Amino acid sequence: MADVVAHFPIARPRRLRRTSALRELVAETRLSVNDLVAPLFVREGIAAPLPIVSLPGVMQHTVESLCTEVRELVALGVKAVILFGVPAQKDAVGSGAFDPQGIVQVALRQLRSEFADRVVLMADLCVDEYTNHGHCGVLDARGDVDNDLTLEIYAKAAVAQANAGAHVVAPSGMMDGQVAAIRGALDAAGHTDVAILAYSAKYASGLYGPFRDAVDVQIVGGGDRKGYQQDWRNAREALTEVEADIAQGADMVMVKPALSYLDVIVAVRAITNLPVAAYHVSGEYAMIKAAAANGWIDHDTVALEQLTAIKRAGADVILTYFTRWFAERANGSATATGSPS
Ligand code: PBG
Repeated sequence: MADVVAHFPIARPRRLRRTSALRELVAETRLSVNDLVAPLFVREGIAAPLPIVSLPGVMQHTVESLCTEVRELVALGVKAVILFGVPAQKDAVGSGAFDPQGIVQVALRQLRSEFADRVVLMADLCVDEYTNHGHCGVLDARGDVDNDLTLEIYAKAAVAQANAGAHVVAPSGMMDGQVAAIRGALDAAGHTDVAILAYSAKYASGLYGPFRDAVDVQIVGGGDRKGYQQDWRNAREALTEVEADIAQGADMVMVKPALSYLDVIVAVRAITNLPVAAYHVSGEYAMIKAAAANGWIDHDTVALEQLTAIKRAGADVILTYFTRWFAERANGSATATGSPS
């Protein structure tokens, strides 16, 4: 055997895996708190924060508790948050999404006045949390989402969010032409410096279940979003969506969910030099929490493995409910690079 090895040298990749220091030296992917965006929920009309049962560790915040949470995240080194609103009243067009007194606008004003530019304030831009039918747009006479009428609402919501202090608006409704409509409205209102993070390739996924609990959304008649979100059988179609959003002025493009769509992240990375974001969604988080609670997987190892895989696939920015956990871990130990200890 020794003779064979001498004559036919084999690769010895294990040489560089021998010690933790060697592994750290040659790690190709380094996850940092700077990569992460914390999704936060703010609910109108509650006196104290409420836990979200299907998203352990995540709350529906009051404006006050939201500010406290952001203060703590900033102290931990987190650079960005994305806000979702839960209004007290819903209606057919989702007025709370563009009302200057809507809950997200109120929260944005408060956060911007306290934190100025020290943290990136992103606002999810959609109406599903605000409509009484739970769809991401306004309905036509047949009950289908009317694309172009919805664009008018998104344009108003973008301006309301920018007026309230958002640095980035993030349209998530998958309407055709939404980026162009929003860019046009922002520019016309003097908000040329407000950026657009486009949820470009957003799939009609089964993994948004806990999120819908978080924002109290039920789609009317047990419906779904397959008429506007993407079919999970399609990958090339995602590139058409991404190209369209870039042509319309997107500053960053997103793939969502993340783990089941790593191939899409790779493909998107290959066609653009813009920052690519990926959303590790509520169901992806909840699966880790539930399996770990049963003792079936190790929480920290799997969370790090998944977030690192998303970055390895090509995402520069990761929206994840693990942001606070990661930031605490990075502050409390020497493993900020994201390697399993
Ligand atoms: C739509 C929106 C959704 C999510 C983010 N923005 C839900 C949906 O499309 O049904 C899901 C996020 C998650 O599951 O974590 N406003």
